[in-house]
Amino acid sequence: MPSSMARLLLPPLLLSPASGAWLAPAELTRGLGSTAGSSATPAVMQRRRTAASPRAVLADPSAASAARANFTPAKSVDVGVMLLNLGGPDSLENVEPFLYNLFSDPEIITLPSFLSWFNGPLAFIISRSRAPQSREGYAAIGGSSPQLATTLEQGRALEASLARRGIEAKTYVAMRYWHPFTEEALKAIKADGVRRLVVLPLYPQFSISTSGSSLRLLERMFYADQELRQMRAVVIPAWYTRPGYVAALARLIREKCDTYADRSQPTIFFSAHGLPKKYIETLGDPYKQQTEATVGAVMSKLRRLGYMNNYTLAYQSRVGPVEWLRPYTDDSIRELGASGVRDMVTVPISFVSEHIETLEEIDVEYAELARECGITGWTRVPALGLEQDFIDDLALAVEETLPLTEERPKSDINEGRPVSLRVVNDLVQLRSKDQEIEFGPVRYEVRRTGLTPNAELINGRIAMTSITLASLYSVYDGTLTSDILEGRLPFSQFFGF
Ligand SMILES: *[C@@H]1O[C@H](CO)[C@@H](O)[C@H](O)[C@H]1NC(C)=O
Repeated sequence: MPSSMARLLLPPLLLSPASGAWLAPAELTRGLGSTAGSSATPAVMQRRRTAASPRAVLADPSAASAARANFTPAKSVDVGVMLLNLGGPDSLENVEPFLYNLFSDPEIITLPSFLSWFNGPLAFIISRSRAPQSREGYAAIGGSSPQLATTLEQGRALEASLARRGIEAKTYVAMRYWHPFTEEALKAIKADGVRRLVVLPLYPQFSISTSGSSLRLLERMFYADQELRQMRAVVIPAWYTRPGYVAALARLIREKCDTYADRSQPTIFFSAHGLPKKYIETLGDPYKQQTEATVGAVMSKLRRLGYMNNYTLAYQSRVGPVEWLRPYTDDSIRELGASGVRDMVTVPISFVSEHIETLEEIDVEYAELARECGITGWTRVPALGLEQDFIDDLALAVEETLPLTEERPKSDINEGRPVSLRVVNDLVQLRSKDQEIEFGPVRYEVRRTGLTPNAELINGRIAMTSITLASLYSVYDGTLTSDILEGRLPFSQFFGF
């Protein structure tokens, strides 16, 4: 179907409030950015948009809200916060199945589509061969990953912090590769009748392989579920330069630097989780740029506080034969040692909870390498964990996002702007699956009279496309990519320097 037809068809459908997810075209985001800190309410924004889009008056929101009201269970949670994280094995026996889940994720091991059937067998082989070494690693840190325990505690702390702000919220942990899985979290969310859902990846920087993978899975599940499609949901794709996060990280670094005779003496060594280079170069993954932005923001904060330390950013955890982001952490440690650096404060920058990459890889392997390279004054900054200023900043991020859950889906298509291919693909797929759906001017007319199940189905799909747009597939779309890269999604006002 030509995209011009999609444009013709879509405008009236997009106006239905049946789907609650949020699409953030650059202009809307910018518009919100300009009202940051002012007393603009969602209602005000709504009016402004209605004025800009005359078709909006044709939609009948009351019918759809009535329909939605029927689904609301008696007992319901107003605000749900879904925390996304990687997950880790809870016992040594589960290391191998955990690795299997990890390596069978097509966002992690990307095969050409004609080979996609091979993902499972390949994951089986890789997890089999890597399990013994990985089990040793987990054995060294106590036999399991502490990530879930920390994430659950972070969730409770976040609830408490939100409660202090007058927001009754409940957190739900959704791990990508181990229990509790995304399915389990969504089941709980549905059982609780969550009214507004904020999806918060616990990865400060967005990557296709981390937040992107979780969001993509979530998107698929929303697609498949009528009830979920009606939930008002908003995603915070990344928060890599939020002032509170940067300040908390800078504070932890200062506390370590202050333990040296000259606080500006140690080299501050940021170690980010690595990624195959092709993610950045071929897929346009914003991870590297966002990681550099975090380091830049933390260092300017430290400079303002009088810390003049040299610093380096390197990427750890490389596996496999392909080239990853450089410089590699081990290479950098060797170079710094050779250049005479003796004191080093290491900062894990992609993690907000301790797990094997901090406790084993940094604290054991890299620390040992550093000693061999003559770096005698080695310390590591802890992961942010339950630091109150960090948790409070996450709470603030959630609070700031809540008005956006009240937004109706809004699309570039509505305004005739170029859109991601995904939107069009979706419609094409729908057509092949459901013969009753008609595209073209006829549907355009029919839609004006009321909400049909098919229109609702399309709306749900478009709504969930918004999550995709704000995450994974947006990398193919120039506009939204630059939005993510420049941090305009969705906290434009906080990302910009
Ligand atoms: C920082 O790096 C510069 C250039 O490599 C070096 O001359 C200087 O001594 C370093 N400063 C500290 C405190 O290590």
